[in-house]
This record gives sequence, C-alpha cells and structure tokens, in this order.
Amino acid sequence: TTSDKHVFFVFGASGDLAKKKIYPTLWSLYRDGLVPENIHFIGYARSQLTTEKIFENAHKYMKVKDDEHEAYEKFLKLNSYVPGSYDKAEDFEHLHSETNKITKQPTAHRYFYLALPPSVYDSVSEMISKHCRPESPGLLRLIVEKPFGKDLESSNKLSEHLNKSYSEEEIYRIDHYLGKEMVQNIIVLRFSNKIFSRVWNRDSIAAVNIIFKEDIGTQGRGGYFDEFGIIRDVIQNHLMQILSILAMEKPRSTTGEDIRDEKVKVLRCIAPIKLEDVVIGQYTGDKESTDPEHQEGYLDDKGVPKDSTTPTFAQVVLFVNNERWDGVPFILRAGKALNEKKAEIRIQFRDVPGGMFDDNIQENNPNGKLARDELVIRVQPNEAVYLKLNTKRPGEMDFSIEETELDLTYKERYQDVKLPDAYERLILDVFTGSKINFVRSDELQEAWRIVDPVLAEIDKKKIPVIPYKFGAVGLREAFAGAAKHGYIYTGTY
Ligand code: BG6
Repeated sequence: TTSDKHVFFVFGASGDLAKKKIYPTLWSLYRDGLVPENIHFIGYARSQLTTEKIFENAHKYMKVKDDEHEAYEKFLKLNSYVPGSYDKAEDFEHLHSETNKITKQPTAHRYFYLALPPSVYDSVSEMISKHCRPESPGLLRLIVEKPFGKDLESSNKLSEHLNKSYSEEEIYRIDHYLGKEMVQNIIVLRFSNKIFSRVWNRDSIAAVNIIFKEDIGTQGRGGYFDEFGIIRDVIQNHLMQILSILAMEKPRSTTGEDIRDEKVKVLRCIAPIKLEDVVIGQYTGDKESTDPEHQEGYLDDKGVPKDSTTPTFAQVVLFVNNERWDGVPFILRAGKALNEKKAEIRIQFRDVPGGMFDDNIQENNPNGKLARDELVIRVQPNEAVYLKLNTKRPGEMDFSIEETELDLTYKERYQDVKLPDAYERLILDVFTGSKINFVRSDELQEAWRIVDPVLAEIDKKKIPVIPYKFGAVGLREAFAGAAKHGYIYTGTY
C-alpha cells in the first residue's frame, strides 16, 4: 500500500559496481519518479565512510543535469551509510536497528543489493537473513550478481546455501543482458510476428551467431577476470541467456514463470560443449598502436599472473537437440580487446534452392551461392533490427542482384525515445516484483551443466590460447570454425 515504507540497501557501497552502476541507477530512477514513495537508501561496507564521501566518489557517474540539482539534493537526503563487517552478527543487528530507527516501521520492505566479491556472499546473505529481516508482512528481496560460482559444483553450493535462508521467490539473480531493450524485444519479434514463427526452425535457419565484442581490455580488473575467463564472464550467462530466449518454445503467457519454464526446457536440450567446437584466445599488446591502452597485452595487467592461459576470447558451438533445432549450430563468440564494442545476434537462413540467379553470385560469397537472407538483431550500440536480403540492383536492365537491408534502426525510427539502461529496468523490476528478467536457479544450473565439462577439460589439458593483437577484428580460427559449421559470412572481417 502507499503508506508502506521501503529500504534499498547497497552492500559494497564503496565499491566499483556501486559507484558506477547502482547509485547512478537509483538516482535516475528517483529522478524519473520510478522508485516507490517513502523510500530510503542505506549503503553498507566495511570502511568508515560517510554518505557525502560515497557520492563524491560516484559523482562523475551520476550525471546530474543543471536543472536537477534540487531533486538531487532531495535524493541525497534519502541516503544513509552504515559501516560494518561482512561476518559479525552484532554489525548486522546494528544495521537492523538503524534501519528501524530510520523507517520507524519494522514492516518496511527491504531490498538488499549485494555488490560484493563472491568470497563474502555466503556470510553476508546468511547474516542478512538472520538479523535483518523485516517484520511480517514486510517483504525481503535479495539481489545478487554473478559470478554465481565458478563451475557447476560451486554454483550449486552457493544455491544450496542461499536456499537455506531464502525462498526462490526472494532471490533476484541479475544478468544485466536481460535488461537490454533488444534482448527483451526478442520475445516480441518472435511471438507477435507470424512471418517469423513459420520459419523459426531448422527447415529455414542454417545457423545462428551470437556475438559479443569489446574494444577494451581488462582495465585493471585482471585480478577478477583471470579467475574466470571469458567463457564464465560472458558466454555462460549473457550469451546463453540470449540463446535460450531465441530458441525456446512459445511460453504460455508473458509471466516470469511461464517464460522461465520454456528457457529451462530448451537449455535442457543442449548437450555439453565439445572441446573440438571451442576456439580460445588471449590478447597481446599491439606495440605499433598509437593508443597506449592497445600496447598493453592481457599479461601486462597487474592482476594477471605472467603465465596465465585464461582466455579473453572464446567461440563455442552449441546444438539444441530437439525437433525444432536439430543440427542447427548456435555459434557463441565473445572477445575483449577487439576492434569495436558490439553485441549482435545473426540468424542466417538457408540458401534459396534452384539456380535461377546463378549468374549473379557475388564474388565474395564463399558459399558459391546467392547471399543468404539474414536477420540481425543489434543489441548494442545503436540498437537495430535489420533483415539482409537480395534485391534487383536499381536501374539495371537485367536481373543484377544486390544485397541490401530492410533496416529498423532505433535512433532513426524512434528518435524521441530514450532507452533506459539495463540496470534501471532490472532494479525497477525488483520493486514491482517482476521476475521475467531474472535468472532462476534451474536455468543457472543448466547453463553451468553445458559449459562445465569443457571448462574442466581446457584446464586439465592446458589447452593453449591463440594470441591475438589488441584491436583485432577477431580470430581467423574462430571464423573458420563458424564457416565449418555452415555459417557463411559474406561481409568483410
Ligand atoms: C559484464 C562482464 O558482465 O558485462 C564484463 O563481467 C563486461 O567483463 C560487461 O565488460 C559488458 O556489459 P555491457 O553492458 O557493457 O555490454
């Protein structure tokens, strides 16, 4: 009800994630009037800090416009900071009593965002449940971020630990890719357009390529990254989430449980990745580059051991063993320190049968056929959906063919629409209790099951990483692997 009070806790309030993402998100939701009325924000971390200090550090990420200073001051007044350990009962009891002092309502709903290193997840989650629960009927929601373990076993252990203190209902596992506009759009594109539902299967689709590229290296995050590598950091979660939405059957409804049921079902049909379908790489410094960042290789990152073989690039191929997808390769590729920042989904349709236009085959088509139709969903930057297809070259007297696009680029078609940041949507979902865009424990388990054996094999056999230069377009070996599986790329790499 509207007289209900709400408290949003930021654990790890002095950390990077809090500063760069969580506080700026809370501010913009507040500014846009999207947080519940009667809300208070409490930061919690080990250091003796003040709210002022936290916001001073976060200031450059907050993006306060000239006419927003008054609102910003109001927002700051809604914030408090409580220092404390991550494992001592008395500190959590103190947090609990401080919270009650602030709200004067022991039933106030409590949302806990754990922006913390995984090493303290166990103790913090346990302590919160033991000492900081609101009185009934106040709600508790726990928001956790990956890494959810390092492999199937450690992830299951973490889930079991959380399950001891929380119901699944109370746990919100963030995968921020689920908060992106174009990822959310997949469901609408697929299930509200008759022209797609007919062709969304092995009869018409030759291959699916899901691509994540970044033009930055680890930027000092090497210590964290080296323990995980790109398969755990991006593929197991973000790309596999996209895959499950692309490949799932039609959910019964748009509710979170119906959608997640279908996502899990399709993940269950995927066999573990085979080593032969994996390409891994690691970036090296490009000494000739004029950009100082590009001169530094992965091994130059201070947090990274000099002999690390952790991949910063990987391509894996997955197969969904069901009637809809049998034999269609889903090629997932992710890399840091490449030539551009881009995430996109490319759904490539089969060749057109019959050789009617064989005279028109483009030289650059390695397939020796007409260019294939391709549906591209560009997740970022510059969100777009476009369909590559062949048309008659305008003005020509003969049947000269040209590959072109039916192009829905958002910034042209929806000029006045500001797309909210992924974190804004997801935190809003936490307030409203919508679970559509959060990862359920069984989804998480399935995603680990698929990558777990190959990760172990890579470690055990010490599979070497292929070096690539900072700023490279990609790895030749990966493009060749994709081609071997039947993804024909006609553009230039
Ligand atoms: C995070 C990864 O989950 O996603 C990072 O840990 C990566 O390594 C980031 O940089 C990418 O997110 P986005 O939204 O910038 O594509």
